[in-house]
Amino acid sequence: MLAGKRILLIIGGGIAAYKCLDLIRRLRERGASVTPVMTRAAEELVTPLSVSALAGEEVHRDLFDLTKEAEMGHIQLSRVADLVLVAPATADLMAKMAQGLAGDLATTLLMATDTPVMIAPAMNVRMWEHPATQRNLALLRGDGVRVVGPEAGDMACGEFGPGRLSEVPDIIAALEAHFNAGPLAGRRVLVTSGPTHEPIDPVRYIANRSSGAQGTAIARALVSLGAQVVFVTGPADVAPPDGVVLHQVETAQQMLEAVEAALPVDAAIFAAAVADWRVDGASASKIKKEVGKMPTLSFAENPDILATVAQMKTGRPGLVVGFAAETDDVVAHATAKRERKGCDWIVANDVSPETGIMGGSENAVVLISDDGAEAWPRMGKDQVAERLAQRLAEALG
Ligand code: C5P
Repeated sequence: MLAGKRILLIIGGGIAAYKCLDLIRRLRERGASVTPVMTRAAEELVTPLSVSALAGEEVHRDLFDLTKEAEMGHIQLSRVADLVLVAPATADLMAKMAQGLAGDLATTLLMATDTPVMIAPAMNVRMWEHPATQRNLALLRGDGVRVVGPEAGDMACGEFGPGRLSEVPDIIAALEAHFNAGPLAGRRVLVTSGPTHEPIDPVRYIANRSSGAQGTAIARALVSLGAQVVFVTGPADVAPPDGVVLHQVETAQQMLEAVEAALPVDAAIFAAAVADWRVDGASASKIKKEVGKMPTLSFAENPDILATVAQMKTGRPGLVVGFAAETDDVVAHATAKRERKGCDWIVANDVSPETGIMGGSENAVVLISDDGAEAWPRMGKDQVAERLAQRLAEALG
C-alpha cells in the first residue's frame, strides 16, 4: 500500500528522533521514498548523515540555501510528496504549526504544502497534557492534520503517561490506512476485541472463552474499506490484524484507559468480552497453597467501557456499536441493553451451546438500531464483519 508513495519526513527535535532512522528503513522496505527534512534541534539528536544514508536522499535543512533553491525551491519541495509526516512532532513544532509560523525550512514547508499532513507527537507527559498543547492539537485537527499517537508508557525523562512517540509499526499502519482509499478513507474507528484477564495474583487470573475472532474480522474489514483502525485487544487466541494501530491490554481497566486514549474517533465498535468483575485487591505475591485452607476471593465491578463511551457528554464517537451475547429472548434483551448502555447499534447473537457460535467460525446476528431489529442470515464471522463495516461506512456517509 505504501509502494511508490513519496513521504516528506520532517524530523523534529525530540529525544524520540532516533526512532526515525528505523521508520525510514521500514518505509523504504515497503517501497515508499523518503525525503528527509530536519529542524536544527533534530540535528542535535540524530546526525543528518545517518538520516540521509538511510533515506538514500540528502537531508534538507536550510531555508536559505542558494544551491538548493536553484535546484528545487522550498515551495516545490513541499509539493512533491504524497504526504508530509512530522515525527517526532514536538510541542514547539505543534505550536508553530497551529499558529502558522514559518521561521525555518520545516515550518515553511508545512505552511506551503498542499498535500495531507500527519503528525506523530512526542514530548514529556506534562507538556502533552498542558492546555496549550491540547489547544494546539485541537486547532491542528480542525485544520485537517491527521494525528497518530502519542502512546502512554515510560518516558525517557523518567515519567509515565501519554507522550511517547508511537511505535514505528503503528505509524506505518496509520500511513497505510491513509493511503488505502475506500469509503472509510480518512475515518478513524476504534474496535475492542478479545477477552480480558483479571489477575488473582501474579500467576493466576480469571478469564473467559472469547477468541477475539469476530472483533479481529471486524477490524480487518474496516481496514480494507480504508479506515484507520485503533484495535484494543485483550489476550486473544487469534493474531491481531495487519494495518491497525494496535494496543494489547490484559485487564478491563487497562482496556478502558487504552480506549479513552484512542479518542476522538468517528465510530467505535465494542466487540470485546470484558470481564464484569475483577478480583478486589489482587495479591502482589503468589498465594501459597495451604493444606485444607481455601483462599477467599472478593470481587469488584469492572468499568463498563461501552456504556462509559456511549454516555460521554463531549467527544462521544458519532456511532457507538455494542454487542450482546444472549441465550434466550435475544431481541428483547438486546433491545433493552441498547437503551441501558446508550449505544446506537447493538449486534445481538444467540450464544446458546446448540448454536455452536461461541468459538465457532459462523455467526447469526440481529442488528438493532433506531430502525428496529434486522435479522441477518447465518454466515461466516468474516462476512458478518464485512457487512457490518459496509453498514458503518453508509452510516458515516
Ligand atoms: O453487558 P454485556 O457484557 O452483555 O454487554 C456487552 C457489550 O458491552 C459488548 O459490546 C461489550 O464489549 C461491552 N462491554 C464493555 N465493558 C464491560 C462489559 C461489556 O465494553 N465491562
